[in-house]
Amino acid sequence: MNDIFTNCKFKNGFGPGVQTAAAATSPTKRPLSPDHPNPALPITETPSPAMSRMGWALRTLLVADNSSCLKDRKVSGKLIRKCAPGTELVDWLVNLSPIVHTRAQAAGMWQALVEEGVLAHVNKEQPFKDKCFLYRFRLDEEGGAAAAGVPQSDDLGAANEHIREALSALFQRGPDATLRMILRKPSHERTSEELELVFEELVHIAALSHLSTSIKRELSSIFVFEAHAQAGTILFNQGDEGRSWYILLKGSVDVVIHGKGTVATLKTGDDFGKLALINDAPRAATIVLKENNCHLLRVDKEHFNRILRDVEANTLRLQEHGKDVLVLERVAKQRGQHSAFKYTVMSGTPAKMLEHLLETRLGQSVGGMDPFLDDFLLTHIVFMPVVQLVDELANYFHCDAHEEAQTPEDREYIINFKKRVIQFMQKWVMAVRHAAFEEPSVCDFIEDLAAEVEADPDLNEETSIVHNVLTQMARYQEDRNQNAGQKWKLPPNGQPICLFSGNATPSKTVIRPDDDIIFRVYCADHTYCTLRFPMHTTAELIKACAADKLQLNRGPEDLVLVEVKSNGERSVFKDNDVSIPTGLSLNGRLFVSVKDHLDALTQLQEQECPTEGVDIDLEILSTKELAYHITLFEWDLFWAVHEYELLYHTFGRHHFGKITANLDVFLRRFNEVQYWIVTELVSTPSLSKRVGLVRKFIKLAAYCKEYQNLNAFFAVVMGLSNMAVTRLQQTWEKIPSKFKKIFQEFEALIDPSRNHRAYRVFVGKLQPPLIPFMPLLLKDMTFAHEGNKTSLDGLVNFEKMHMMAQTMRTIRFCRSRSLGLEPPSPKSEGEVRSYISSFRVIDNQRVLTAMSQKVEPTRKL
Ligand code: CMP
Repeated sequence: MNDIFTNCKFKNGFGPGVQTAAAATSPTKRPLSPDHPNPALPITETPSPAMSRMGWALRTLLVADNSSCLKDRKVSGKLIRKCAPGTELVDWLVNLSPIVHTRAQAAGMWQALVEEGVLAHVNKEQPFKDKCFLYRFRLDEEGGAAAAGVPQSDDLGAANEHIREALSALFQRGPDATLRMILRKPSHERTSEELELVFEELVHIAALSHLSTSIKRELSSIFVFEAHAQAGTILFNQGDEGRSWYILLKGSVDVVIHGKGTVATLKTGDDFGKLALINDAPRAATIVLKENNCHLLRVDKEHFNRILRDVEANTLRLQEHGKDVLVLERVAKQRGQHSAFKYTVMSGTPAKMLEHLLETRLGQSVGGMDPFLDDFLLTHIVFMPVVQLVDELANYFHCDAHEEAQTPEDREYIINFKKRVIQFMQKWVMAVRHAAFEEPSVCDFIEDLAAEVEADPDLNEETSIVHNVLTQMARYQEDRNQNAGQKWKLPPNGQPICLFSGNATPSKTVIRPDDDIIFRVYCADHTYCTLRFPMHTTAELIKACAADKLQLNRGPEDLVLVEVKSNGERSVFKDNDVSIPTGLSLNGRLFVSVKDHLDALTQLQEQECPTEGVDIDLEILSTKELAYHITLFEWDLFWAVHEYELLYHTFGRHHFGKITANLDVFLRRFNEVQYWIVTELVSTPSLSKRVGLVRKFIKLAAYCKEYQNLNAFFAVVMGLSNMAVTRLQQTWEKIPSKFKKIFQEFEALIDPSRNHRAYRVFVGKLQPPLIPFMPLLLKDMTFAHEGNKTSLDGLVNFEKMHMMAQTMRTIRFCRSRSLGLEPPSPKSEGEVRSYISSFRVIDNQRVLTAMSQKVEPTRKL
């Protein structure tokens, strides 16, 4: 007898429907959880010894009872041994035990036996019901010696001894068994009382605590109970289509990721499988049962989408080895996006974010580039250096390198993944253009990728993508070779000048890190040396070399490289700073100085004088032509600025060791135009000429605005608003009111209040091409940087990256169409072009104010 419940020999015939970890499966049809579990069938593979013993005791007592309901009965002409109707089993149990008060309690207790396979409906069609359906014990189904005859007296004694304990245990299990039975029935068969029972249970599940009562009521009718008997069973595989969301009611599961192994173990009360549903993406991990007899609640995708997708929790956290690795937050739908709601990445480890991108964000090219992907590509240099990114991509691409025997299913997954890496590469190049090709590790990776794609027939469709990337790379390298050895000169004052470029069209000359620049470095007594160095040379090297040439005879640790501005202000460079000469202010000079003697540094006399430039009578130049050439010139400067330079500028060039020379030159130009306006006005002694100039500059601002060169527009208007100009009362008195009114409108547009609201509204309505007011974009970057930490609890604060990428995208938008301005009828084209390329500028406010005083002394009252 003891054999029956200790060895549990009989199996419950647990149905197929899930796979065990070792089982191979067909590549297309992965076995899924049974869609409609049958509540008449057991949920365990074998009954537990305890349940077997309880069943045995009940049966022994029933068989021993002469008036028992357990009889041989004929059903449809077939004899069924020792079966009883549900109603009579309930009657018997209620009479047997004082602890069973209601028929429903008794039915639940019998159902507890049904779900372990100890008792069963004779046709295996019904769970236990207090109805006239016939049930019998498994022992009688199997037949054999144990089932035959009347129980012996010692068996009866043992059964009587055990029955109290058995009834109490079954009494405890009954309600849960009833609940599981309801959850295994199709929703239309669940009665309102049953739904109420389920609802009361859902209230206690942590994973649902954020949901409203009405949602939980809806869920009561659609949750499906699933039991899985064997540890090692795979519930679903990474890469599978997401079909359901799960809550773990009992047991635990492992979250397994290709190439990483088990990254997390989920326990009772945890949920999983949501990621694929909310993002319409493949499963990000494989879920393997860690224990026998795991119980799950399941919501299928169609119901999830209908009920939960819009009300899901705002935040979703993924963990690996007990630590958060990815935090997602729900965002409202953006116009043009195909899914109702998406989750966006708030923070994560760099590697997990990349994995999430490759797993979920590629291959859905609806409505252009995914914003998360674009943000990642534009900002990854802050948190994941290029070399590391290339390494990770290469690992993903070669994820099959160590797997010898591949099932067709694994192969399909691997090929899919390789395709994603290729797509990623293509989008990377599209987003950052030549910056990707400047990195030797990227070029090597692209070449390796190309060779492997060529050799793999499964990647046939990808060859055109790879060829396209290779062509772009070749074009970049050709262009680079042609322009190799570009040289620049930073005159003692004014703009850097390109001395030599292999470029046939001298415009749009990008300053490259290994271009040489010739510049001066002074020392305290104003003697200087002229140096020639590549742009990316560090301040430390420049300092050492200048000290040597100027015979300072001091160790590098005693020396600093300093800029002395035209107003005497000094700013010291960090030793690892790069692109030093282009970073100087308009009339600034580079000094090398002993650390302790910084105070002794004074500006050169020439710094108070105008910078080098063409001396011309402005009156004779057409204003429209001026604006036109200023815009063409600045468009080229703007075009050369890479979005990354904004990041380098904001975080500090020294962090990246990358030059910001193109951005420096563009910003320098802004100051040049602004101070040119002031310089011209305060150095014009004739009142009538000044009046003419003010009118000309207001018109110039209007043309710049018309040409959508807002950088120059701001510079001109700010120049006219400079204190040294606004104080020229006699001049302004003679300006016609029509011009004054226009100027007031312009001033309103550059008004910085409410975070430059007027300008933002105005520029928001413009279409490209346009040149934006660059200092404001840099201010936005700085705000995002200073107001937000880069790392939060060890994760990259991706919200910050998103904010920065938004600003970087503005630049991309402004340049998304080429400039095709209608040239004004040429009058003095060459003359204007050379004039506007280098203005004569004083940038010392004190000198400008003094000059202004001189041309229009303050009136005595
Ligand atoms: P989904 O991608 O639908 O299927 C696999 C599930 O595993 C995933 O949703 C998450 O719910 C869950 N999961 C838990 N931890 C991780 C993790 N670190 N990475 C990926 N998935 C995880």
